[in-house]
Amino acid sequence: MIYLDYNATTPLCDAARDAMLPYLERRFGNPSSVHAAGREARAAIDNARDKLAALLHAKPNEIIFTSGGTESCNLAVFGLARRRSAGGGHIISAKTEHHAVLNTVEHLEKNENFQVTWLDVSRDGIIDPDQLASAIRPETRLVSIMTANNETGVLQPMREISQICRERGVLLHTDMVQAFGKVSVDLSLVDAASFAAHKFYGPKGAGFLFLRSGFAPEQKMLPRLREWQRPPSGHCTIGRANRSARHGCAMNSGREFRRTFRMQNKTARTLRGWQTR
Ligand SMILES: Cc1ncc(COP(=O)(O)O)c(C=O)c1O
Repeated sequence: MIYLDYNATTPLCDAARDAMLPYLERRFGNPSSVHAAGREARAAIDNARDKLAALLHAKPNEIIFTSGGTESCNLAVFGLARRRSAGGGHIISAKTEHHAVLNTVEHLEKNENFQVTWLDVSRDGIIDPDQLASAIRPETRLVSIMTANNETGVLQPMREISQICRERGVLLHTDMVQAFGKVSVDLSLVDAASFAAHKFYGPKGAGFLFLRSGFAPEQKMLPRLREWQRPPSGHCTIGRANRSARHGCAMNSGREFRRTFRMQNKTARTLRGWQTR
């Protein structure tokens, strides 16, 4: 097979695999643990965050690791739209966005009293900046426009879009999932930008959100998706593999627990027997 659909996903490159392997094998610590194994994992994450921030001319605390493009878009759109909003407000997005943004904005429209302006695109797939400018209202909380389209490859005029949002004091998120690694990325134009590692030779189930410092997102997690519900997009292969592996380990550790419990009981009985002697 000759695989050409690199917009859907890319293979894992050797450098990414080599960097990850030690943390999937020997260095398996939980980065939230305070012991040495945890601190080692935490240091690796911090190091990756520093390198990524330097590459993007961002601050390390502006990089939030996620499970991929969908989670990044969810976090940005939910988080920024709900900011300073006691329910409701106005959002502007485009009809040609990826479902990671479309579904999230629609959720706010249907369930949280937000009004949405869906911008049309020209025959060439491009947003008209004048249309954007005239759609902005005093209550507009967020504009979310993708940098590069996943199906057509069309690049939106982000510089003009950014200038309009800045002038009108509206927050701007861009889905850069298809842009990163292909065109130059200027994060100074936006307040938030979403990325997915599997589009640029990284693993599936990993991504990050750039969120300009000072914008803590207001985030409520949606209930967990069930297996039979399709997620908005993408497949977290590693996440899923991990989950099944964890399930297997949990069953093992259940057996392990019962075995330890029986041994403890036996030891306690033996000790009691010694004490009464
Ligand atoms: C433009 C765009 N945004 C978001 C996503 C979702 O990314 P992920 O598959 O990492 O959830 C994709 C994936 O196809 C995409 O092309």
